[in-house]
Amino acid sequence: MEFEALKKSGITNLLSAFGKSISLPQGIFYWTGRAKKEATIDATIGSAQGPESEIIAGAPDKAVTFYLPSVQRHFAGLKSEETVPYAPMLGLPDLRKAWRDWILRKVGPLRERVEPCLCLPAVTPGVTGGLFLAAKLFLDKDEVVVSPDRLWENYSNIVERHIGARIETFPFFEAGRFNLKGMQRKLLDTLAQQPKALLMLNFPNNPVGFNPPQDMVQPIVQALIEVVEQAGKPIVVLCDDAYEGYVYDPAALQRSMFGDLCDAHRRILPIKLDGISKEFLFYGGRLGCLTFGLPSGLDVDRKTLQEELDNKLGGIVRSTVSNCTRPVQSAILKALGQLDQVLAERQRTVDVLGRRANLLKAEFAKVDLPQLKLLPFNAGFFCFCDVEGVPANKLAEHLIAKYKIGVVPSEGGKINGIRIAFCSVPEKDIPTLVNGIVSAIKDLAENA
Ligand SMILES: Cc1ncc(COP(=O)(O)O)c(C=O)c1O
Repeated sequence: MEFEALKKSGITNLLSAFGKSISLPQGIFYWTGRAKKEATIDATIGSAQGPESEIIAGAPDKAVTFYLPSVQRHFAGLKSEETVPYAPMLGLPDLRKAWRDWILRKVGPLRERVEPCLCLPAVTPGVTGGLFLAAKLFLDKDEVVVSPDRLWENYSNIVERHIGARIETFPFFEAGRFNLKGMQRKLLDTLAQQPKALLMLNFPNNPVGFNPPQDMVQPIVQALIEVVEQAGKPIVVLCDDAYEGYVYDPAALQRSMFGDLCDAHRRILPIKLDGISKEFLFYGGRLGCLTFGLPSGLDVDRKTLQEELDNKLGGIVRSTVSNCTRPVQSAILKALGQLDQVLAERQRTVDVLGRRANLLKAEFAKVDLPQLKLLPFNAGFFCFCDVEGVPANKLAEHLIAKYKIGVVPSEGGKINGIRIAFCSVPEKDIPTLVNGIVSAIKDLAENA
């Protein structure tokens, strides 16, 4: 956007340097807006959607955003004291404890190792709010943040525009596997220039839909241990776990890597960012949690350390959002008290998305088109196709104009491809979606 009206009105001259630099990224919102108006198959939307009958027995086939009745029903019975007063800055104490228990349940066999590391989670306005808090607390202007080269577009506004730090990437895959060596090299190069490094790990990934296979987890942890030993400097690992739990391949890691990073090395500080948007299918709830995994062997009183970290976080929360919405915290606390039921309901959505992911893979497996390469995916809400010889934006434009299919293109640097949000495409439409993509690439390649 050129902001012509702002310039003409003179308001641009009133803006701060930050005000001048900030804008909504064109990518996802632009293509979602187009798809809403023009597409019959909309693979742009990052929320799980489909016929209500797929998740609720006996419900109609009407399309809905998938939800969990055992979360939503708690709103009806909330008392005024559960909704009206301000919530404490870092969240309702009982919710913080319940979320801690939820993390311990999620880490499964690693419980014993993780428990002593775990701080009390701080409630945040979604994973987005948690990312912002972590960035504010750990990043300086001009510092480098390391990330694989497919990443959620919002990271650049949080890290670059808000903080003035810089994201530097390494190629996500090397010979079809997570690029360990690339990650190590980029971290070591970064640590050669600055006293610490921050690594973003988002598994299951947006936009790739990749979660590491189980046999890759220890090599990733080992690679990070080698980095901090070799550099003699610490790293902070931000685990963006927005899509935790949505894994469709039994050979893949079924939990976050956060647990494996806890106490891996005294110079590795993992921070877990969770959110109810996807975990409890409640995007509008705007609630998340930020949790430190403090290594053992720090020669300090843990309780005092927790209080001091809470104080720092509290300072940021108080001066930005003040506190998070109390009614949602009250309802989520109740839902966490009936977790088995919540998870049983969520499994229906996981199963629906798993069927879509497998069908998508099967349909792409039939395609023999040198310009199209599906990146490895086994989890999450999205998959990503690298495209050669046809600019991704042009492909997305042609797809929507001729085939009425909406996808989100990604073009820049060495990346040229499309993100497919299978979370919002019913199974019956998936063969048409893949055929449309193939035909659109052929059309454009012929005319090139
Ligand atoms: C990788 C990633 N992190 C974080 C978020 C935001 O999560 P929340 O709704 O909890 O702010 C998203 C949502 O699209 C995402 O894709």
